[in-house]
Order: sequence, then structure tokens, then C-alpha cells
Amino acid sequence: MRETIDDLRAAAAHCTGCLLYRKATQTVFGEGPSDARIMPVGEQPGDAEDRAGHPFVGPAGKLLDRCLVAAGIDRSRVWVTNIVKHFKWVPRGTRRIHSKPGAVEIAACLPWLDAEIKAIAPSVVVALGATAAQGLFGSAFRVTRDRGRFVPFNLAPYALATVHPSALLRAPDEEIRHREIGRFVEDLRRAASAAT
Ligand code: URA
Repeated sequence: MRETIDDLRAAAAHCTGCLLYRKATQTVFGEGPSDARIMPVGEQPGDAEDRAGHPFVGPAGKLLDRCLVAAGIDRSRVWVTNIVKHFKWVPRGTRRIHSKPGAVEIAACLPWLDAEIKAIAPSVVVALGATAAQGLFGSAFRVTRDRGRFVPFNLAPYALATVHPSALLRAPDEEIRHREIGRFVEDLRRAASAAT
């Protein structure tokens, strides 16, 4: 499958399927070993990812890495990716501020994720946050209500959603952050239990 996924990555590098490519530095495709069993799917690359060209290398990615370790998940079993593969941002002074992708951008980008999931064929897909969860499981999906539960999904044997690690970084205080990180790690453990 390495060939297929490398072909996909090369093709996605030239994607002009929506307008996000105009302001983003580059397409940020998924990464990991091609025999990965677990596929966390985030929203879109952030500022750091857009510059580096790699997913989940910024603050949210570092927290995700720590939580994967805490859940007993070996990074070599994980393919990390996003539902939208270009950084959507608005300027604020000299900073580039994350802007939520819209339905058109998500729909334009979904075929890449579809093909990515088929090429990697993970046992379990883990949607991180509402944007990924609703893009993958439908607009009626509510992370607050449905997180941590396996849901029917046509592209992988198992799928579930949990919060996005950036939501953990925004927790209002240390106590809440600690508790929410614990719940997140629990969700990742559940995902790992389905990974064969
Ligand atoms: N947030 C995401 O959803 N994806 C990344 O790659 C980085 C931050």
C-alpha cells in the first residue's frame, strides 16, 4: 500500500478542489506507517503544520502524542491525518488565526480522506473533534453526547469520536484540563482495544 499512499500524497500536493490552497503554504497529507492500525483524524493543519508540511506537529500534536503514549498506543501503529488538508486562516495583525473549515471545503477534501482510509485500511478510525466527527459520521453526530462509543462506519471495522486535543489545551483551568485529558486517554484506550 506504500505506493498507493505515496501516489495519493503526490496528487493531493496539487489539489485545487477548493480555494484554501491559495492561502495555505502546502497540502498537509497524513503520515505514519502504511500498516498503521489506528487512524486519528483531526480538523485541519494548524499554523505549525502548514509551515512544516506535517500533521500534528504543533501544540495539539504534542499533546496528542503524550496522550497516545498514556493510552499505551505505540506511535508506530498510528497514521495521523486531517479531514481538511489545507490550513484555513484569517490574518490578525502579523498572526495567522485558525478559521473553521466550512461544508464546501470539507466536502471538497473528503475524497482524499476516503482514499487515504482505503489505502491504509486501519482497524479503527478516531475522529478528533466535531468537525472531523460530523464530516465522517454525519451532521447529527454530537461529540458531547456520542464520544467514546463505537459507531457504524463504512470505511473501517471500527470508528469512534472524541474531543480534539486543542480543546484540552483551551480548558479553563488545570483541574478541568487534567480531568478532560483523562477522559481523552480513556477514549484512545477504547480505540486501541479495537485495533487488531
Ligand atoms: N489540529 C488538527 O486538527 N490537525 C493538525 O494537524 C494540527 C492541529
